[in-house]
Formats: sequence, structure tokens, C-alpha cells
Amino acid sequence: MRVGVMASGRGSNFQALIDAAERGEIPDADLAHLIVNKKDAYAIKRAKKHRINYTVITSHDRTRGEFDQSVLKLLKELNIEIVVLAGFMRILTPEFIDTYRNRILNIHPSLLPSFPGANAHRDAIKYGVKVSGCTAHLVDEGIDSGPIIMQTSVTLSDGETEESLADKILKYEHQILPKALQLLCSGKIVINGRHIKIKSD
Ligand code: GAR
Repeated sequence: MRVGVMASGRGSNFQALIDAAERGEIPDADLAHLIVNKKDAYAIKRAKKHRINYTVITSHDRTRGEFDQSVLKLLKELNIEIVVLAGFMRILTPEFIDTYRNRILNIHPSLLPSFPGANAHRDAIKYGVKVSGCTAHLVDEGIDSGPIIMQTSVTLSDGETEESLADKILKYEHQILPKALQLLCSGKIVINGRHIKIKSD
């Protein structure tokens, strides 16, 4: 499957996909292209280093609709079949989601449906939860509300900070995102409403 990765910044999840691909762990995924919405996104450096083509489509100077149309046009030209949101911090339009229905994968740093949105770590700490984690899920029209493919939990320590929790969760994001992508690309995901089953080999 030809995969387009979308990122907004650091791109450590993008790097996790690159590393997994280089280790042969996502044989059904071809990391064909990176799209970033910020011209200084560090993810670009990772793409360059690993010779992955990339495109910058800035979002600050376009409407949401214009941005999504530009991305959709590019994805179509590149024959991209699966889209991964790897730290992509924008909401997509219903048209975008419908075009790639059940073919957009997102990684989120909380145990959804708790703490959706852009400040998952802060919200989890503020709430006082004892356990949080990360979720790999398909994207629907809501905010971090699509069917769940995989989750991993972590236990919060006394005095956990936003930064320490983010670090703790990130290493599990890097594990489940490539696994979820491989499942999606290999056709092993069976979707029944909100429920996802993984076909066994
Ligand atoms: C990751 O923790 C990802 O889960 C989160 O942003 C970070 C991006 O890091 N995404 C969201 O919060 C989406 N709602 P990265 O750029 O190093 O992959």
C-alpha cells in the first residue's frame, strides 16, 4: 500500500515508521511521501535523511477547505492509498475523511475516549488519572473519536509532569503506530461500526 504520512512538527512517530520499515516490520506499507503543514517541521529533516519525498503545504495561509483540497489533490496524484496522521495537529474536513474513509490512521497520546484533542497529557494530569496511554485509531469526522485499533497503557507516578508523561507514552506510540499500520495495510482489520477485529493469520 502506498502510504502518505502527515506531520506538523518533530516527527518522532514518522521516524518510528521509517525505522520499522527499515527493519522489515511493515512489509505491506510503502512510505511513499511526507506532507507537512509547517515549513520548519523537523519531520522534513527525517524525510531528507531517509530519501523520502516530501511536500510542504502551509496551513496558516489557507482556509481549512483549501488546505484539505490541496492535500487531497497531491495524494491523488501520488496514488496514495493510506494516510497516517503522525503528530498532525489539525482537524480534517468531512470531505477529506470521506475520500479516505477507514484509510486514515491516527496516533493519539491518551487512552481514548478520555482526553481527545491537542492537550492530552495536560488534561490527563489535570484530571488526576492514575493510568493513561496511547491509542492508534481510524479517523472519523469527530475529534479523536474513530474506531480503535490498538491501545497501550502506562501508570502515572507521583509528581508526574506533562513532559515526563509525554516521554513515557511516546515510546509506546512508537511501538503501536507501525503495528497498526501494518495491520491496516495487510487487510487484517475488520471494521464493524465502532468495533475493530484483527484477522488472525
Ligand atoms: C505525539 O505524542 C502524538 O501522539 C501527538 O503529538 C505528538 C507528536 O509527536 N498527537 C496528538 O496529540 C494528536 N491529537 P511527534 O511529532 O514526535 O510524532
